[in-house]
Amino acid sequence: MTFADPGPPGQLRIAPSILAADFGALAEQVRAIDAETDWLHVDVMDGHFVPNVSIGPPVISSLRRYSERFFDCHLMMNEPARYFGAFQKAGANGCTIHVEIGDSAALLAEARAIGLRVGLAANPDTPFSAVAPFLGDVDVLLLMTVFPGFGGQRFITDVMSKVREARAELTRQALPVDLEVDGGVDEDTAGVAVRAGANVLVAGSAIFARADPLLAARTLRRLASDV
Ligand code: DX5
Ligand code: ZN
Repeated sequence: MTFADPGPPGQLRIAPSILAADFGALAEQVRAIDAETDWLHVDVMDGHFVPNVSIGPPVISSLRRYSERFFDCHLMMNEPARYFGAFQKAGANGCTIHVEIGDSAALLAEARAIGLRVGLAANPDTPFSAVAPFLGDVDVLLLMTVFPGFGGQRFITDVMSKVREARAELTRQALPVDLEVDGGVDEDTAGVAVRAGANVLVAGSAIFARADPLLAARTLRRLASDV
């Protein structure tokens, strides 16, 4: 992959979530797992869409100096459009917004117009029918396998029926869209998600909270490739 190349759609990708990293040693932690990182997943929380706050454009622009990976920014925000330009300038490559905030078509178009790749995310209790109308407008469909807001939660296996439904529809329409899962992905659930049709695996705790994060990411890749 060249600088920030997202790679061909549909290919297995490991996307470590920096939410579980030590923010005091972020550059070092991100560098340590670089060899097993396809996309770097950046969780942005606004304290409104989710009951937590995390990081924003300044951290992304600092990290940009230490990583050439595709920065996959997950915007858990009620008003993401206020910040698209700031994310893009900071070095974000893709921005994923949540379908639950409404106005998806206009927001996706606005993000794309400034050169971002775009994604649409759905919470575990949001049906596939809510995102289905926008499949032709996105590069990434993110199906949350936990309720967003916190790392370290348990993978909700029930979401796999929605992942299967989404994969079947993407195949039926031959759409070049990456299908991403996020939340509780670990050594036990990575294969479950890939078998259901996911090709981008976000993992925070299962990488950064392990004694050897590089090995943990490599293990997830192996388990996901072996299905
Ligand atoms: C949850 C975030 C996830 C989270 C994943 O709101 O969107 O990306 O950091 O963390 P783990 O892998 O620990 O569930
Ligand atoms: Zn996320």
